[in-house]
Amino acid sequence: MLKNRKITVAVTGGIAAYKACEVVRGLVKLGADVRVAMTENATRFVGPVTFEALSGHPVATSEWEHTPEGAMPHIELNLHADLLLVVPATANILAKAARGIADDLVSALILAHRSKVAFVPAMNRHMWANPATQRNVADLKRDGAHFIGPDSGFQACGDVGEGRMTEPADILDLLPGLFSEKPLSGRRVLMTVGPTYEPIDDVRGITNRSSGRQGFALARAARDLGADVTVVAGPVTVKRPAGVRIVPVTTAREMLGAVEGELDRTPYDLFIGVAAVADWRVADRLEGKWKKDAGLPQLRLVENPDILAAVGHRAGGPVTIGFAAEATDLLENAYAKLEKKGAAMIVANVARDALASDTNRVLVVTDGEVDEIGPADKDEVARKILYHAVDLLEEDYGPEDDL
Ligand code: C5P
Repeated sequence: MLKNRKITVAVTGGIAAYKACEVVRGLVKLGADVRVAMTENATRFVGPVTFEALSGHPVATSEWEHTPEGAMPHIELNLHADLLLVVPATANILAKAARGIADDLVSALILAHRSKVAFVPAMNRHMWANPATQRNVADLKRDGAHFIGPDSGFQACGDVGEGRMTEPADILDLLPGLFSEKPLSGRRVLMTVGPTYEPIDDVRGITNRSSGRQGFALARAARDLGADVTVVAGPVTVKRPAGVRIVPVTTAREMLGAVEGELDRTPYDLFIGVAAVADWRVADRLEGKWKKDAGLPQLRLVENPDILAAVGHRAGGPVTIGFAAEATDLLENAYAKLEKKGAAMIVANVARDALASDTNRVLVVTDGEVDEIGPADKDEVARKILYHAVDLLEEDYGPEDDL
């Protein structure tokens, strides 16, 4: 989504300016064409040479710079970027942008910019909470500007509160969404992701190799397409998506409890069961750590609840999508699962290819059709699966049904 995008990064004068270096580096790594402009105050925090090295281009720091091509060539260039990303955005630049003040290079760029503008605020919590700042943010949003953050947490000044700049990795995670259409806007999506862990004793358990990567890629894709996303996640270590609510759980029964709790509280449009739920748990969990010299433990396994089937057969429940990781007979098993789980769609893949891998190849099976996606990276597979979900939602809950 960011490959070959022209992005102008405007850095303003806050201590978080050093984090903008990581944003620029990340954007370049993702294939974006990045130019950097800085306010004079920003150059007090980070030298332009750093951004020059990271972006591979000269950095604009003043409206009055002359280059061999003539006056203000950077501005001309920046006006044609796909995105103007102001990071960090101080209270001062928000105030200037909201009022249309253009008294330095960055504020002039914002006023003159003709496509998307996104602000990543970073400031002391009192400055952020100040009604003047909140008014400016509301005005800018009304005018069509995008905002990323701010987050809550420790601040450079020693305070703790809202105003902390969103972490660079999360900014990079959220940016593709700015370029995406929003067919899931207004839709609520609930998902299960990752493995479950069923304890045998206090230190041992039954689990599997699911990484959570495909599930989180789907959560990101749903978020980027405009959905409000909640993920009930088993124990995973891969990076969690930003802008998505995560409910952490450990066992299958906890996962089912969390899912049912969500569905009881809120109407969801779509449920996607991606989790590799452990099929069995130990009936009588052992206390403490079972000693080896106590002999072989006699474990009795019992079946775990089927979360997808529980949701799929729920009266008035959401449209349901399940996954099927199979070793053989992909299609036959997918059809059987549509029925058994009460699902509207089953995404079938070869177990060996899907687990703990960056790529995937899947068959999307619905009542009437089979579509093959991939092999492709899990993000692309996720986006394509979600477009099938959009079709399902439009069939089941078309706009006329919402009335
Ligand atoms: O039955 P099987 O495990 O092959 O089905 C896989 C699908 O069912 C996945 O979507 C998975 O998330 C879901 N599932 C579940 N609860 C279980 C087992 C599987 O939700 N106990």
